Amino acid sequence: MDKKVHELLNDQINKELYSAYLYLDMANFYDAKSLDGFANWFEIQAREEQDHAMLIYKYLHNSSEAVTLGAIARPDKAFAALDDPLKAALEHERYVTSLIYGIYAAAEAVKDYRTMQFLDWFVKEQAEEEKNSQELLDKFALYAGDGAGLHALNAELKGRAYAAPSLELD
Ligand code: FEO
Repeated sequence: MDKKVHELLNDQINKELYSAYLYLDMANFYDAKSLDGFANWFEIQAREEQDHAMLIYKYLHNSSEAVTLGAIARPDKAFAALDDPLKAALEHERYVTSLIYGIYAAAEAVKDYRTMQFLDWFVKEQAEEEKNSQELLDKFALYAGDGAGLHALNAELKGRAYAAPSLELD
C-alpha cells in the first residue's frame, strides 16, 4: 500500500475513536441534564464510531499493513445550550467527511482501487451521518421550543436502537 494512503488510514482509526469519545461526551452532557433520550442517541453514535474505527483497523490488517495506535485526544468542546452538541455534531460530521474524501483522493492518485472500493461504504455512511445530524438539529429547532416538545423529542430519541454496520470485514 502507498505510504501516504497507509498513513491516512491509520490516522483515521484515531479520528474515529476520537469521534466516539466526542459523542460519549455529548451523551454525558445530556445524561447530566436527565435527557436520557438525547443521551441514548449519542451513546449509539459513539458505538457506531467505534465500529468505523474497527472496520479500518481490520482493513489494514487484512491488507497486511501495520496499525499503530496513538493517543486519543480529550474531548474539549464546551456545551451550554441544549442544542450546542447538535450543532457541534453536524460540524464534526462534515469534518469527518472531508477526512474520508482526503483518503479517497490519495488512494485515487495512486490507483489504489481496493482502498477506493473499501472507502465507498464510508462515503455513503458520511452522507447518512450528515443527514441524521442535520435532521436532529432541525427537529430540535422545530419541536423543542417548550418543555412538552423537548420531552416528546427526548422520548423519540430514546427509541433509537443500535444496528451493526452493513459492511462486515473478517
Ligand atoms: Fe465515523 Fe460519524 O463518522
